[in-house]
Amino acid sequence: MSLTATDAWKALATAANGIANQPLKALLADEARAAQLTHNVGGCHFDFAKQWVDASTLECLHNLAAAAEVPASAAAMLRGDPINRSEGRAVLHSALRGGAAAASVDAEVSAAQQKMTDLANAIRSGTWRGYTGKPITDIVHIGIGGSHLGPELVVEALADYADPHLTIHFAANIDANDLRGALKNLNPATTLFIVVSKSFTTLETQVNATSARSWFVERTGNVDAIAQHFIGVTTNEEAAGAFGLDVDNLLPMWDWVGGRFSLWSAVGLPILCAVGPEHHRAFLDGARIMDEHFARTPVEGNVPMLSALFATWNYNFLGAGSLAVLPYDERLALLPDYLQQLEMESNGKSVSVEGQSVDYHTMPILWGGTGTKGQHAYHQLLHQGTRAYAADFIVIARDEAGLQEHHTWLVANALAQSQAMAIGYQAPADEQYRNVPGNHPSTTIVLDELSPANLGTLLAAYEHKVFCQGAIWGINSFDQWGVELGKQLAKPIFAELTGQTGGEAQDAATARLIKQLKT
Ligand code: F6P
Repeated sequence: MSLTATDAWKALATAANGIANQPLKALLADEARAAQLTHNVGGCHFDFAKQWVDASTLECLHNLAAAAEVPASAAAMLRGDPINRSEGRAVLHSALRGGAAAASVDAEVSAAQQKMTDLANAIRSGTWRGYTGKPITDIVHIGIGGSHLGPELVVEALADYADPHLTIHFAANIDANDLRGALKNLNPATTLFIVVSKSFTTLETQVNATSARSWFVERTGNVDAIAQHFIGVTTNEEAAGAFGLDVDNLLPMWDWVGGRFSLWSAVGLPILCAVGPEHHRAFLDGARIMDEHFARTPVEGNVPMLSALFATWNYNFLGAGSLAVLPYDERLALLPDYLQQLEMESNGKSVSVEGQSVDYHTMPILWGGTGTKGQHAYHQLLHQGTRAYAADFIVIARDEAGLQEHHTWLVANALAQSQAMAIGYQAPADEQYRNVPGNHPSTTIVLDELSPANLGTLLAAYEHKVFCQGAIWGINSFDQWGVELGKQLAKPIFAELTGQTGGEAQDAATARLIKQLKT
């Protein structure tokens, strides 16, 4: 039966028609409701009280989870069933932190983690030396998408835990300015490159890695030193070997870990190098706490399931056309970028797992930025614009910067913003320009502190939310065929731009631009 034909979906459509009679302002007067909608997992507190739901909507959402068989799908994923149907693969990123019952992969996960830890220890302790005998001071991580966004987010977020003697740089974009920026002022004798590509065929990573190798060889004149200065993380040993990487310096990836869920694997080597094995373990353990919560908690208290249900309510029934991710902490500045791939590449789909076009909206645009900077930029639109949207606020409870007054103002602003979005302001009739309509739903996630464990818990919550959302919508969250078309189209355009071909059939607009841009 199609999703929209289920009783649960129809009941939600009816509930949506009546929700205007229950403004969020009225719902927020109810203390018991606020308590019921807050759930603690590890050191993270998920406060859904500012979601625009009353008790009966909540019940309809629970029914939707049952109708879409979300708990059964979660169990299938965690035990390693091949739920990525279009690629015939299991989805076992939870096994990387011990959170899945997947004994079949335990041995290879442990072996890879041991190799990663040995490498990171050697780099951090100075045992791993460059070709002149000097220890490594800089790591350049080359990778894109899932092979980049998670590691950079976590390295930045956990900078307070990092070894100050080691600086991690990232190059992802094929724009040479990215690599140039990463390499600026680096000494090749003390620089280690980590080339991360699950497929080892991704254009950006191939081109950046090739240029990085040239940069290294031009400055050292030492091709034999490449083995000491280049490490690879991939499923494709053959291609990595052909590129010139020493197979002893390769760390594995597996087809049962999707790129955007891979930061827990050797893709996260820069995280381990930056913060060391103890904090890295805490990061994985934090994610496992969320895995266990996800696997064992009934839907009524299950944070990822509830997050996906509220998101469905907001996007499909309240018309929210975007999700604003608003971390009130500069250390989490890259969280929106990371979630853009996690949520939009996973759930930006229009065909169901059965191969039918869906007759409902899927993932809206996810965007965001740090508070309070956004308050002086786009929050005006959030408060007085015409579109519906939803927001996630992420707040750290403890002042970790050592300036309590700043922190208290930061927290006050976060709470004030979600309050204004929910309750709004009814202006006098002659001052309608001051009117703030309110009724914009948000979730506030409070972390006791921005520790490795809490960050792990937070990111795993989003991962499982994405999975549940895909299960509700009946789509495959683990493939990304839409990305392929652009990759294919770029090849003949590149050939025309470089004069290898001419006059290929292109649309008129593209042909004119090619002419203008031809080098
Ligand atoms: O954007 C498409 C994509 O395949 C992502 O899913 C992936 O994270 C990224 O490219 C990088 O892929 P790879 O790790 O194979 O280089």
